[in-house]
Amino acid sequence: MATERKSILVTGGAGFIGANFIHHLFEQLNFKGKVINLDCLTYASNVENLKSIEEKYSGSRYFFEKVSINDAERALEICNRHAVDTIVHFAAESHVDRSILGPAAFVETNIVGTFQLLEVGRKLHKENSDFVFYHVSTDEVYGSLGPTGSFTEETPYDPRSPYSASKASSDHLVRASFHTYGLPVLISNCSNNYGPYQHLEKLIPHMITKMLSGQKLPVYGDGKNIRDWLYVGDHCEAIWTILTKGQVGETYNVGGDCEITNIDLVRRLCEKVAKFTETPAQKFLDLIEFVPDRPGHDRRYSIDFSKISSQLGWKPKHSFEEGIEKTLRWYLDQSNWSRTQSGEEYQRWVASNYGKRGG
Ligand code: NAD
Ligand code: DAU
Repeated sequence: MATERKSILVTGGAGFIGANFIHHLFEQLNFKGKVINLDCLTYASNVENLKSIEEKYSGSRYFFEKVSINDAERALEICNRHAVDTIVHFAAESHVDRSILGPAAFVETNIVGTFQLLEVGRKLHKENSDFVFYHVSTDEVYGSLGPTGSFTEETPYDPRSPYSASKASSDHLVRASFHTYGLPVLISNCSNNYGPYQHLEKLIPHMITKMLSGQKLPVYGDGKNIRDWLYVGDHCEAIWTILTKGQVGETYNVGGDCEITNIDLVRRLCEKVAKFTETPAQKFLDLIEFVPDRPGHDRRYSIDFSKISSQLGWKPKHSFEEGIEKTLRWYLDQSNWSRTQSGEEYQRWVASNYGKRGG
């Protein structure tokens, strides 16, 4: 994609990765074009995530639109008004546990919403042959691995939760739009992200919050499930690399080269938080509690990202050590706590849906 991007519609920009991506565009890449953040502001969003961007660029280079991706008419009107040449599609229901309890929203947003946005994309492409639709997806579409092997771009899809099934379905719709209608699309499938602005329901911020408030640390099952961890800034860099250098119609796997069992990760977090807060680590380690497993809990994810690495020259810059220290510093800075919001709402949700399991 050699064409310069001038007007980017980011969906889900008030969420975790979307907000990091918008910060990355302005602060790391010094992007000079327009960024339109289209987000309907679900529980997972936080407009505070973009306060500094709003203050500097609102109305000139940054625009916020509280609109759902399911509202194709309004989305198209916004794209036309801003002469959007690129859609980077993050908006989704993203939490696996929630998809088990309430899958309908995942079908509505991740499948129907993506379909509606693709329809918008097709109309934009008719007017502008340089238009591109970038779809942000997950490694969870590939299913669960045993002790060996890694997901490549050729691994057959085998989603096992309502969340991953809805993401797999959206990936298929995106690819179908490329093959059937010639819509220029790019897809990336990425492993577990961590970093600033992540909702407290996700493992790392969840554990940090609980440690700091002296609550039990709920580890699902035997804690031996493995995830590959990627610092969110490295993911943002990968997306930009794919957007600017990738081949349309192609899929790229993005990973952190950092496989850790959940229990090891929680123990390492205990040690780190102890160091940062000058507290004996044992105080946090004693809070670890094994709780009933997540239904259908995928055992292991591992990403082979040699394609993006060899073809586009991207690889993660942060080791887990570096990434987690940056993340912890961010969460421990009291002025950042309001940005993680939803703590109370989340605790209420956990209590009513999981009882003891959520801690
Ligand atoms: P998130 O839950 O933090 O944020 C999602 C955002 O989308 C929120 O701001 C929410 O308000 C918005 N949104 C939801 N429904 C919408 C709708 N109908 N219209 C407009 N906006 C809507 O999610 P995240 O963790 O930042 O994930 C972003 C994307 O990356 C998702 O597509 C997810 O599947 C994918 N992904 C996430 C990870 C991860 O580790 N977090 C890893 C791989 C892929
Ligand atoms: O792999 C990419 C995916 O990573 C993304 O597509 C999803 O949007 C994102 O939510 C994430 O999914 P996970 O289910 O892997 O993330 P979560 O943070 O919910 O859980 C990580 C692991 O930790 C998982 O094995 C479940 C476990 N876990 C989670 C929580 C919240 C616990 O053991 N205890 C917990 O309290």
